[in-house]
Amino acid sequence: MSAKKDKNENENSGVSRKLFENLYNVNPEKVPWGYNTPDADIIPLIDKLDVPPNARVLDAGCGNGKNSVYLREKGFETYGFDISSKAIAFAHKSIPTGDFVVADAVSLPYAEEVFDLIVDVGLLHSIPPDAWESYKKETNRILKPKGYYFLRSFHRPLNYPPDKPILYENTDQTGRSYFERDPNKEQFPIWGFNIPQIRDFFKEFKIRVERYSNLGGGDRLYVVMSKEEKKGKGPWYKRVLKT
Ligand SMILES: C[S@@+](CC[C@H](N)C(=O)[O-])C[C@H]1O[C@@H](n2cnc3c(N)ncnc32)[C@H](O)[C@@H]1O
Repeated sequence: MSAKKDKNENENSGVSRKLFENLYNVNPEKVPWGYNTPDADIIPLIDKLDVPPNARVLDAGCGNGKNSVYLREKGFETYGFDISSKAIAFAHKSIPTGDFVVADAVSLPYAEEVFDLIVDVGLLHSIPPDAWESYKKETNRILKPKGYYFLRSFHRPLNYPPDKPILYENTDQTGRSYFERDPNKEQFPIWGFNIPQIRDFFKEFKIRVERYSNLGGGDRLYVVMSKEEKKGKGPWYKRVLKT
């Protein structure tokens, strides 16, 4: 399978693309979400899900491909997309034979129900709220009925104002990018989610595991979902939670 090149962009895409290109441009090794090592939450998770060894896996908002490298090492047929062409160029450098495309999460160049696992580490929380519905529609469209969708985002406290970003992302004069909580500056908003919000938003999905932690600074939420109904909380559920 290979992704069709660039589909249409929505209005927000230009803004996101510019902001992220900027972040990756100056010094990609200083992006605040890390560069070399795979995300700490996907490592314990992947082995515990019953994803077949030759599964087709999508790294959504793959950035420089640090998680794709890990997924590829696990033997998965790995795909990735990102709105930033700089990020995609780095991903290609990490995996020269990888199938990485520049694409917007709201309009993806993949066919229906093709992925066994979709991994989103930090993508949805980088997307403005008015694009969430389209993101979800696309995720639902390309995920196999028995597939898994793993979402990792910042955690939003329950009493936090719903229309307020959880953090802002900025770049200093040396090009180093960082997060801060000052909402008065013109920066790049990062959203966050909490469990009731996720349950409500992803009503079409069956939530299979949900948890949040404050590992590594900053509260993080992770949720595993699928479209298929599962009977009860089987042994896989306990396995996943025992991290
Ligand atoms: C927080 S970074 C995480 C990158 C990667 N998943 C990782 O863990 O290193 C979020 C990524 O989402 C990408 N992104 C933001 N908005 C996007 C959109 N609308 N469509 C596709 N990618 C987007 C950014 O370019 C960036 O690479």
